[in-house]
Amino acid sequence: MNTDVSAPNARQASAEAFTADVEPHLIVIFGGTGDLAHRKLLPALYNLLSAREFADTIEVLAVATSDRTDEEYRESVGEALKDAGIEGSEQWCAEFLHYQSLKPGYDQLASRIASIEKSSGLPGNRVFYLAIPPQVFDDTIKGLGEAGLASGPGKVKVVIEKPFGDDLESASELNRILFECFDETQIYRIDHYLAKETVQNLMAFRFGNPLFEASWNRVGIESVQITFEEDIGIAGRARYFDRSGIIRDVIQNHLLQVLTIVAMESPVQLDQMSIRDEKVKVLRAISPLRPEEVVRGQYTSANGELGYLEEEGVPNDSVTETYAAVRFMIDNWRWQGVPFYLQAGKRLEERLTRVTIVFRGPPVYLFDRDGHRQAEPNVLHIILQPNEGFDLRFQMKTPGEGYDLATESLGYRYADSFADLPPAYETLLADVLIGDQTLFVRSDEVEEAWRIVDPILDASDKPHGYPVGTKGPIEGDRIPALDGDRWID
Ligand code: NDP
Ligand code: BG6
Repeated sequence: MNTDVSAPNARQASAEAFTADVEPHLIVIFGGTGDLAHRKLLPALYNLLSAREFADTIEVLAVATSDRTDEEYRESVGEALKDAGIEGSEQWCAEFLHYQSLKPGYDQLASRIASIEKSSGLPGNRVFYLAIPPQVFDDTIKGLGEAGLASGPGKVKVVIEKPFGDDLESASELNRILFECFDETQIYRIDHYLAKETVQNLMAFRFGNPLFEASWNRVGIESVQITFEEDIGIAGRARYFDRSGIIRDVIQNHLLQVLTIVAMESPVQLDQMSIRDEKVKVLRAISPLRPEEVVRGQYTSANGELGYLEEEGVPNDSVTETYAAVRFMIDNWRWQGVPFYLQAGKRLEERLTRVTIVFRGPPVYLFDRDGHRQAEPNVLHIILQPNEGFDLRFQMKTPGEGYDLATESLGYRYADSFADLPPAYETLLADVLIGDQTLFVRSDEVEEAWRIVDPILDASDKPHGYPVGTKGPIEGDRIPALDGDRWID
């Protein structure tokens, strides 16, 4: 009997294709003068390309509305690369970086693109990366369409940064505008969490290790907890964050994506369609959130550190949440009745992103003592960052008479086996060049995620205060308490 049920591994195949055979491209970065481009995109692109033989077949054209020369632009990128610890980039900047202002319009941009492609012998494969304020996504997409840039002599792709809309209606409208010019196979919606090695490893952990599969369901698991804690605040992004809040900023996207990978069924194979189909099925099975399933918080000053309302650019009567705890229920056969608790916050005690699986306790507690339950549940912590790895907690008898139990754990850390993990933006840019959409969010996924959080956006009541550097508002405990649970440390 043939027991080989291995399916083709599209990502592995595409990684090989990447080193061997990336087609020449022009990458057009709208917002190439901005913070994201300077701090993340260009360093990632430089590192990616400098390690590859085909580096000289990729040209970069930055686009923004201000006037500057190619030389001025190259100088600012050179500085940004130095800030990112990259030395010796001058030749690359001089040969492969160009700048175009959008002031003369899209026809001028189209001519500049044609001219660079001609002089560099590029075949017309283009990536339009929209690293611009979300308010100008729609005009930019329309501009590309009207200038005839949405299709070309080669393959044309458009990459869109987050946030993709700020509610269900605006996200659907943005999809509609995109589909007037592009089809889904050309569209790459960024969620950089999907490109984190540890998030991808959730798939490997689940589907490469059948050990846990028998209990990975409503019979074996009591609750799932996903925690996103940051010690940093809004990092000078008050204008964006105050309109967004933590639910839009990380729960609707990064954390719901992590949840889908924890909860999805096995895809039939590891190709982009099968994986994204399974993820969207999870989202479809989640009911929209109800107000009683949400607790919102806002950090307040402590130990000389600013509270949210004192941050520059934040209105002093803002009710934007910097912390939220929510409960999702997934109405399908695997997860019926298992709560998924998520909490996310800024200016908390530490930086930590973690998935915690709380397994059900034994049917009979043999080791209870004096009427007290001794055994803690088995807990699997999957630590996405920092100090990436796993911890599995189990019960041990302590030496001596009788049965006194203690909780111990088995741990694994990536750093013990692997060198540095590749930065998410390198992975994303590589996948765009190859044309692998697995780690990008499909139109139906993004709309389903907005559908779930839509009813609880824009609450007008004052969030619960929590002092900077703490674990969030005490009221956050109300969310696991909905089902008689508690947050697991
Ligand atoms: P910045 O404000 O720093 O940069 C925006 C850039 O866009 C500027 O270079 C601006 O230059 C340019 N720009 C503005 N309007 C237009 C336009 N109509 N056409 C072309 N270029 C334009 O923003 P960020 O770099 O911080 O953010 C960019 C995008 O990336 C946003 O969607 C943001 O949400 C997303 N993002 C950013 C992150 C970050 O860490 N910064 C993290 C995750 C996502 P000029 O004024 O000269 O036109
Ligand atoms: C971004 C959010 O998408 O993700 C930020 O806008 C947040 O507010 C960041 O800080 C977290 O990303 P990471 O990779 O640092 O966990």
